Formats: sequence, structure tokens, C-alpha cells
Amino acid sequence: MTSSLAERQTPADQFSPIHRAHRPAHHLAGLQAEIEKRLIGRSGLVERLMIALLCGGHLLLEGPPGLAKTRAVKLLSNGLESSFSRIQCTPDLMPADLTGTQVFRPEAGKFEFVEGPIFHSLVLVDEINRAPPKVQSALLEAMAENQVTAGGVTYALPAPFMVVATQNSIEHEGTFPLPEAQLDRFLMHVMIDLPDAESELAILELVESEGAGTAPQAGKPIPSQQILDARAEAAQIHLAPALKDFVVRLVMATRDPDAAPEVHGQIEHAVSPRGTLALAAGARARAYLRGRDYAIPEDVMEIAPDILAHRIIPTWRASAEGATGRSLVAKLLDKVEPS
Ligand SMILES: Nc1ncnc2c1ncn2[C@@H]1O[C@H](COP(=O)(O)OP(=O)(O)OP(=O)(O)O)[C@@H](O)[C@H]1O
Ligand SMILES: [Mg+2]
Repeated sequence: MTSSLAERQTPADQFSPIHRAHRPAHHLAGLQAEIEKRLIGRSGLVERLMIALLCGGHLLLEGPPGLAKTRAVKLLSNGLESSFSRIQCTPDLMPADLTGTQVFRPEAGKFEFVEGPIFHSLVLVDEINRAPPKVQSALLEAMAENQVTAGGVTYALPAPFMVVATQNSIEHEGTFPLPEAQLDRFLMHVMIDLPDAESELAILELVESEGAGTAPQAGKPIPSQQILDARAEAAQIHLAPALKDFVVRLVMATRDPDAAPEVHGQIEHAVSPRGTLALAAGARARAYLRGRDYAIPEDVMEIAPDILAHRIIPTWRASAEGATGRSLVAKLLDKVEPS
């Protein structure tokens, strides 16, 4: 994951006229830079969090313990005025612990729905693979529908609504793998790995300075309306016909045996139209964050692995030979060229 901060700090006058009018990208780029300062060596992750926020999508974050997964989401929540909740998943969690439940109110003589922790704008679902399948299913449904149904009544979730779920990559015993067929409810699946020595030292110094109270203060949180405005503007970013064609060809290469035969033969389950829409929206959001009002092939190629890999299921044989969704997307990006 590469992302250059220098490139993103576009001078204000390089913003297109639509951006100059409101410039919510400016606020988001400010928040992005602020989070990056507190999250050493994770600019790729921070950019993806902002892309998910801009697309109204959800993000699955996977990595070994102690890599600041929880910290990343807390930093994002600190930068937003929107409400935030955190759900720590355990095997005894029940769907109603998440969505809410009907409670009898003797004074009113009737049942009343008490909203669960999912009724917040930013929801951190920590260690999602420790939650039992019924809970995962209730969560994934709410994520897809932006609503919760209880006792026959449907309750709308707030806007913006974004789930960031974390998953520990080294833990398998006593966990429940997420249903592969529903994984595509996540806009992106981001995987992070251990930092290098330079970052490790910077982390040590940062956390020590925070402990000593000498770390820089955070800026003003961004109001929800500004996020919604930014979303509307990001959706207007120009995606040229040739780029739309590239997105479609990438997705079709997971389905069409003639496009990239050696890769197609390794795919059991191909990318759905939801993946195409996600890739187009993600490319627009990336362009917007970088102060452009048009997307370029790099916007598509950079985020394609995180947007497409979890939507592909390799064949049993390919898996046995070590292929993963991610390795197959890498091969597709080699074969399918932008026009
Ligand atoms: N890249 C980083 N930048 C800043 N701090 C970091 C970074 N990586 C790790 N840390 C520090 O490591 C500690 C662990 O972070 P955190 O609790 O967010 O990890 P986690 O990935 O959620 O772990 P777990 O999987 O066990 O829940 C925190 O004190 C955090 O500040
Ligand atoms: Mg954590």
C-alpha cells in the first residue's frame, strides 16, 4: 500500500471549481494528515478509511495483534463529530446485544425498542471473528440494508453509518470465520503487517510523547453534514468511459474464461456487480482526496486489491497450491491493462 502525503497536500488553488465552492475534501485531507501523524507508517490504511467514509462503505481490517487497529478507528472517531460506539465481540454475544431489543415499560404499559450499539455513525466491531454466526449475520445484514428490523418494525440507522470491523489474523481457535458469501458487504478488506525498525522507533517515541502529554493536540472534529456533502461531491468525480471500461474489464476477467484464462481457471466464485460499483466509487473517492476532479488508472489499480480480493473465492485446488483472492487480483492487474 503506497500513498504519498506530499502528493495529497495539493495547494488549494489546484482544487477544481466544484471543490473551491465548499472544499470538504480540504477538511477530510486535514483529518487524514492528522491521523497519519498519530499512526506511524500507515498512510495506506488511513487513506482507505477515508475512502470508505467517502463511499459510505464498511471496512474490514485484518492484522496481527498490537498493530494499532483499534487505535486507527478511535483516531478517526475523534476527528468526526458523528457518534461512535465500540462492540467487543465474544462468543456469547447475541444479535440483540448489537441491534437492540424490545423492553417492557410498565409506566407506559407497552414494549419499547431500545437501540443497540449499532445505532451510531461510526461503529468499531472489534474482533468480529469471535462473534457467533448469528451475530455476524445480523451485523452484515444491517450493513447492507442500513436498517435494523426488530419485532416486525424497521428502524433506520443514522447517516453517515460506517462499520469498521477488526479481525485478528493469527487467531483461529474458538473463532468463527466470516461467511465468504457475505464478505462483499465490506467495501474493502485491508490487511496490515508488522512495521519496520524505523517505524517501530517512531511508534515508541510517539506513544511516549503522548504519555508525557507533549503530543500535538487534535483539530476540531468534522460535522456529519460535511461528510455527507463530501460524499455527494466525491460521487461527481469524473470517471472517463475508458476508465469505466477498465473497471469492467478487471471485474469481467474474474468471470470470463477468455480474458485471462490461467487466472480464471483458479476462481470458483467471481466478483459481482457490487464489486464493480465499489471499485468505481473507491477510485472516485481516491481522486477526490487527492484534490482531482477526475480519476486516473492509478486510482483504480491502487485500491483494486483491497476492493476485489475478498470478493473472489479461489477453487479448492488453487487454494491448496497457495492462491488467495489477493494473489489472483495481483495476476489480473498484470494481465488487464488500462486503455
Ligand atoms: N503504527 C502505529 N502508530 C502508532 N501507535 C502504534 C502503531 N502500532 C502500534 N501502536 C501502539 O500499539 C498499541 C496497540 O494498539 P491497538 O490496541 O490499537 O492494537 P490492535 O491492533 O487493536 O491490537 P489487538 O489486535 O490486540 O486488539 C497502542 O499503544 C498503539 O499506540
Ligand atoms: Mg484492538
